[in-house]
Amino acid sequence: MKINGQTYRSVWLDADGWSVRILDQTMLPWRVEQLCLQTAEQAAHAIASMQVRGAPLIGAVAAYGLALAMRSAPGDLQAIAAMLGETRPTAINLRWALERMVAVLGNVPPAERAAVAYAEAAAIADDDAETCRLIGQHGLPLLAEIAAAKGRVNVLTHCNAGWLATVDFGTALSPIYQAFDAGLDVHVWVDETRPRNQGAALTAFELGAHGVPHTVVADNAGGHLMQHGLVDICIVGTDRVTRQGDVANKIGTYLKALAARDNGVPFWVALPHSTLDVAVVDGVREIPIEERSPAEVTHLSGPDEAGVLRRIQVSAPGSAAANPAFDVTPARLVSGLITERGRCAASVAGLAGLYPEKFT
Ligand code: MRU
Repeated sequence: MKINGQTYRSVWLDADGWSVRILDQTMLPWRVEQLCLQTAEQAAHAIASMQVRGAPLIGAVAAYGLALAMRSAPGDLQAIAAMLGETRPTAINLRWALERMVAVLGNVPPAERAAVAYAEAAAIADDDAETCRLIGQHGLPLLAEIAAAKGRVNVLTHCNAGWLATVDFGTALSPIYQAFDAGLDVHVWVDETRPRNQGAALTAFELGAHGVPHTVVADNAGGHLMQHGLVDICIVGTDRVTRQGDVANKIGTYLKALAARDNGVPFWVALPHSTLDVAVVDGVREIPIEERSPAEVTHLSGPDEAGVLRRIQVSAPGSAAANPAFDVTPARLVSGLITERGRCAASVAGLAGLYPEKFT
């Protein structure tokens, strides 16, 4: 995807052939700054501090982080994979990518591991980009159908599940980009997504860079918009989908799904194969929910009128704050899943129909 006419992926190999480059997402949308990662520890820091974030992207960056480590410490494969795997707990893509890397590298002599690790990390990144392109193709008919009936389609999305959260194209935003590129009259309601504002900062930035009409709304506005017929469809991404189709995603997703159900608005979830965790059944009970710093709730960052980046407090001094970063939307509230293999019901039968090899 593009920023100011320049094509980017969200992670790529530097011209030196071994360093790894990312966009520092903590600086977006204020500044487009690249970071150069040269060690696995730097990759782990980028993931934990959310310089990169989004389920598929943290998997790809972790894979490259392991490749970086294989240059100097190929014998430490398991320990480095464990260190990278501890950076964030909820998105299964992180563990998926590291397990894939370890499975491949475990069969390779240490002296050859670096070359194989870079090739495998590149394959993971390329696979994610193509997977997200296909998710767009399979989601597009949902939007085209509404546009054909109403002339215009209003989509509501939560958090950032665009190209910045993946290697390219995005999951929830991929059908929207394809609809816009196909000439459909599409408009997106962008939930700001407190506390870190991935919607207001990243989704709005991406959509704006591509020219997609959009409006940022406070998280609490979604129910009201739905009651007044201003949302035709919700599409969100996900950090983990269970065997029975429960969906973990950014905190607040569940409330949007409840409002959508009450108002008869279809609620779709877009996911790549790497987000499906068939080892987990009941998402509410079994998926670990990341608890992040209370400071993300009590403080906000952004430029002042002079353009100087500032951090301000928004809660009463001394009040305790809690910051669960994800919630789980039960499968019963999900209209369907959009994957790179097609669309299906959020159920064992639906997922097994698309991914039979995972259900054997
Ligand atoms: O905490 P974040 O910003 O990593 O959370 C991201 C999300 O919740 C996304 O919606 C999810 O990872 C899907 S990304 C295609």
